[in-house]
Amino acid sequence: MSKRTKEILSNMTLEQKIYHLEQLPTATFLTGGTYDIVTGPESKLKLKKDMIYDVGTTLNLVGAETMIDATSNYLNGSKYKIPLMIMQDVIHGHRTLYPINLGVAASFDRGLAKELAQMAAKEAALDGMSVTFAPMVDLVRDPRWGRVMESSGEDPYLNGEMAKATVEGYQGDMGKYNIAACVKHFAAYGAAEAGRDYNTVDISERTLREYYLPAYKSAVDAGVKMLMTAFNIVDGVPCVGNKHLVKDILRDEWGFDGVVISDYSAFEEQVTHGSCEDKKEAAYNAMMAGCDIEMVSSCYAEYLEELINEGKITMEQVDKSVLRILDLKEELGVLDNPYRSVDVEESKRVQLCPEHRALARRAAEESAVLLKNDNILPFSKDVSSVALIGPLGATGEIHGTWHCGGKASETISVFDGMKSILGDKVKYAQGCYAEYDSEDTSLLDEAVELAKNSQCVVLCLGEKQEYSGESYCRTDLELPQIQYKLLDRILEVNKNVAVVLFTGRPLAISRLDKTAPAILNMWMPGTEGGNACASLLFGDSVPSGKITMTFPRTLGQCPIYYNHYTTGRPKAQEDDEKFVRFTSCYLDVPNSPLYPFGYGLSYTSFEYSDLTLSNNTMNRTDTLVASVKVKNTGKYKAKEAVQLYIRDVKGSCVRPVKELKGFEKITLDVGEEKTVSFEITEQMLKYWNRDLEFVAEKGEFQVFIGKDSTCKPFASFMLV
Ligand code: BGC
Repeated sequence: MSKRTKEILSNMTLEQKIYHLEQLPTATFLTGGTYDIVTGPESKLKLKKDMIYDVGTTLNLVGAETMIDATSNYLNGSKYKIPLMIMQDVIHGHRTLYPINLGVAASFDRGLAKELAQMAAKEAALDGMSVTFAPMVDLVRDPRWGRVMESSGEDPYLNGEMAKATVEGYQGDMGKYNIAACVKHFAAYGAAEAGRDYNTVDISERTLREYYLPAYKSAVDAGVKMLMTAFNIVDGVPCVGNKHLVKDILRDEWGFDGVVISDYSAFEEQVTHGSCEDKKEAAYNAMMAGCDIEMVSSCYAEYLEELINEGKITMEQVDKSVLRILDLKEELGVLDNPYRSVDVEESKRVQLCPEHRALARRAAEESAVLLKNDNILPFSKDVSSVALIGPLGATGEIHGTWHCGGKASETISVFDGMKSILGDKVKYAQGCYAEYDSEDTSLLDEAVELAKNSQCVVLCLGEKQEYSGESYCRTDLELPQIQYKLLDRILEVNKNVAVVLFTGRPLAISRLDKTAPAILNMWMPGTEGGNACASLLFGDSVPSGKITMTFPRTLGQCPIYYNHYTTGRPKAQEDDEKFVRFTSCYLDVPNSPLYPFGYGLSYTSFEYSDLTLSNNTMNRTDTLVASVKVKNTGKYKAKEAVQLYIRDVKGSCVRPVKELKGFEKITLDVGEEKTVSFEITEQMLKYWNRDLEFVAEKGEFQVFIGKDSTCKPFASFMLV
């Protein structure tokens, strides 16, 4: 809190303070804006017309010119002239889009995640943005939920590492090319029942703390400036008005004193949830929990004054919230220059510039996961003819939802990418439509004919980009039947087929795994997706991504995740294929997933040897070292994500069968060997014990190092 912001605050009227806590869509302030606050969709907000130009913050605007227009209109209309702070969902890139976040996590590369956030921040800052509503760090276990694409997966440690890297990337030193980050959605939004968006979350305090909270905490520890509460309830109370979450845990326990914002209209939704009688109670609950900004509803604007007059809310509480916002504006330089870093010309030069495209391409290559390869890939560039087939083969709509300023017309399709490597040797046929319910077979014959007359086939299947993202949830995780029909028909005439998969979530593709000779999962790869895909298919780059969310064999296994508890009747792994009565299993499907957490193939092979642990006992102040030699025994220079897992064999509460505790991505030349070492400290062994204290309990811990989460323990130690 600075002298300057305190002074600004001391000159503010109560009404002005209250409106400073309101957030409206930027379209409100645009010349000829569509959001007419008086008669348009926002009129239901019941805001005072003469105060609209004095709300403190705004959201969702793209483009430097639009920013300048909105800001100057705002300043013209404003009575008090405190500059507006502009926020935007810069989720996986601003204009240059990189892969969806579930893809970036698969790179297992903290440095890459940071560089990508830096790039997005620069593009967004030059368009005048101050804050991004990212990173989204919700832990996810249910692939039905459409928002898994925004998350980094099912592991608390990896989510935390990605959160930290991303926050550092966006915020840097909060300079000209940086923006403030807003971690979301606090808390446990990813645990929505049945994977249906906005649905009930019912979670124990233990599960919340053990699995769901660590990533938000990592973002807070990394200095994130803002936090967004979630739509859902936790323990019966909507997060925005949840005192236990926001006040007790976030503010008091973690010491977070940055700005807290609600999600879109979530204040008012407390009434719909049925936890508040009316908007007044909604305002009261949110303020008592510690929420500063109300996103696009008007509970504070309508009722805060009344609540203060009645003595239910104090002026100090309101002042504190306003100060937090003013302080952030000051730190971002908005108070000195309402236009902040906006620069129409520089923005044009920087957005989609060759360096940004190159980084997006590298990210798409490193995010891609080779799920299966029966010696099919990489294809040789010397082939005489290649058939590119599939509804997702020649479209730029492979950048995923939350595409901000990115455009399909600026995105490289697989067809574009392949043409730049192979020229006219590649021919395209669509084969079928991408809609999940399409039964139209009219395009099949042409595609089969093309496959028949080509040396190899690249078949682009999967989900359209609008099938994942907010509110895009699904109950069927299979590929559409028409896509299987296309594959089967093609395999009848040509066996040299690689399937390229586009998806925003883990799919249940056991049938594809059985039939397709090779599967390369590109997720939604972003602006440079097609170039990255072509490089990978034709051996200019080597896949190194590993999935961070388990792919089930069938939806019936969900939720399925690697770091589960053992149960009292576990089924032995060697019996996985069998039904064993009275053990925890299914009659019809093994317990193991189709592809486990951490899994991904390469064109080369790696040999893990000489696994060692520096000691078999550990005192509280000791650091043990676990190390392994990894050798590239194949024919391609490649990267490998080496993973460390630990199991706490016995605790006062049950412990997961294993937990990721470290990872390192290394590059190895052909024949090269490197030693990878991980330090193990007491801190890494802590968990929430029976009394909900965060402690490491003495006893045996097993250590695993390997290429995915199925690796076996190689040593154990006693914590004394
Ligand atoms: C989403 C948030 C997003 C906000 C603003 C909401 O619907 O849940 O993640 O930041 O809209 O666009």
